[in-house]
Amino acid sequence: FKVPVIDNEPMKNYGPGSAERQALQAAVDKMLKSAPFEVPCIVNGKEIKTGDIQSQPMPHDHSKNLATYHAATPEVVASAIEGALAARQTWEELPWADKAAIFLKTADLIAGKYRYEIMAATMLGQGKNAWQAEIDAAAELCDFLRFSVKYVEDLYQQQPPRNSTGVWNRVEFRPLEGFVLAVTPFNFTAIGGNLVGAPAIVGNVVVWKPSPMATYANYITHKIFLEAGMPPSVIQFVPGNPPEVVKQCIDHKDFSGLHFTGSTHVFRQLWKNIAGNLDVYRGYPRIVGETGGKNFHLYHPTADVKSGVVQAIRAAFEYSGQKCSALSRCYVPASLWKNGFKDTLIEETEKITIGPCTSWDHFTGPVINKPAFDKITGIITKAKEQGDEVIAGGSWDESTGYFIKPTVIVTKDPKALTMTTEIFGPVLTVYVYEDSEFEAMPKLIDSTTDYALTGSIFAQDRYALQYVAHHLRNSAGNFYINDKCTGAVVGQQPFGGARASGTNDKSGSMSIFNRFVSMRSIKENF
Ligand code: ALA
Repeated sequence: FKVPVIDNEPMKNYGPGSAERQALQAAVDKMLKSAPFEVPCIVNGKEIKTGDIQSQPMPHDHSKNLATYHAATPEVVASAIEGALAARQTWEELPWADKAAIFLKTADLIAGKYRYEIMAATMLGQGKNAWQAEIDAAAELCDFLRFSVKYVEDLYQQQPPRNSTGVWNRVEFRPLEGFVLAVTPFNFTAIGGNLVGAPAIVGNVVVWKPSPMATYANYITHKIFLEAGMPPSVIQFVPGNPPEVVKQCIDHKDFSGLHFTGSTHVFRQLWKNIAGNLDVYRGYPRIVGETGGKNFHLYHPTADVKSGVVQAIRAAFEYSGQKCSALSRCYVPASLWKNGFKDTLIEETEKITIGPCTSWDHFTGPVINKPAFDKITGIITKAKEQGDEVIAGGSWDESTGYFIKPTVIVTKDPKALTMTTEIFGPVLTVYVYEDSEFEAMPKLIDSTTDYALTGSIFAQDRYALQYVAHHLRNSAGNFYINDKCTGAVVGQQPFGGARASGTNDKSGSMSIFNRFVSMRSIKENF
């Protein structure tokens, strides 16, 4: 069989008075009325309430919880692993068409029946406005699931190109022996679905440790997988204390892979722990991770000011800068800075409205929690102490929710704190360079951090585009020309960074699936 033609999920626009706006509003109202929701662990398809209750507050109104969840105990994690391992062979042997059907059906359920519910959970739990929730929990989540079917179908067709006379050479794509641990982030509901979905679709069983700040949306995703026919033990949902759950999984002898999105620090620590356990395992676990970024826009003197500023604002401040791809450092030539860039940037940033994600009037909302709020505001304060100038924003309020105004900092030091530290919040730092220094900029950008996730060049001059694309070829896994450095689309721009930003296995492409299969090469003589 051949899978149907796969396309990106069409996005709805939520204009005033539209049917989709009304439907989403109704879902948000209903969720607000019924919150907090009680989230169990789900092991072998059964709900387990451990009684160790943790909460998931709403970032826009932290006095309220969206959900309370039962943290997995060591016994629950152990039975999740055991159940997954027991289901492994049956899942591996289920025909590809059936696996594909489960993924396509999960996507259809999300796009239709559950669209507004999963979006509402993403808005209330992770602080996204409607449009950011649509991009994430509706469009990207469906895209990941559907395109995974296409990519895996293509992968399975990758056969050796040569057979000699009397010989048939072929390869088989086996899942890994053991189980995969998915450690998923708060900032994209879609990434949660993809980190479990990508290993599962090629026949692996997966233990899912969701982020405490995205537990409810991830729980809904898990239930939709089950409704679509995912066999109950293939994905085990175990919210809980992150270090404890993760440690128990990677200390297990049958741990065979890590699929991670989160901080660089945690990823490195897990990698070291896995390395320390090599004598415990039968094989070498696959380690796949996407971590931080310190993403850049470089403007050439020929760049268009208006669109350059709009792209900077969108990249830096949508979802309060809490995308790993978010823009955080801008390099602007003095000629553009003086001739409109600075004034437009200040004016447009000051216009941004910030408020609860339940309202339709705000461009952006809160940051995720108190530690994030404290970290981001602490960095802005320190930057000012170190002599940087705040030219827009720079104020905050945590009385109801964790709100930080989109902030623009100008620094004279290209290696300043805010040019080098990942902030993961609504803070953009600008370094103004002399036009004559343009050719030195790639080297400066490249040497400023070890991150290499996303970056953009803005120019009309073809030579400048070519020069920068060439000299920054290792500095960003996702490189954009005259476009913002966020918003990679599944099936269009495979996503991921190298160096300290991750293993660059590119979600939304075929290469991620390669990491979760173990090939067997077969030669048959006739
Ligand atoms: N894939 C997301 C983006 O490109 C994070 O913005």
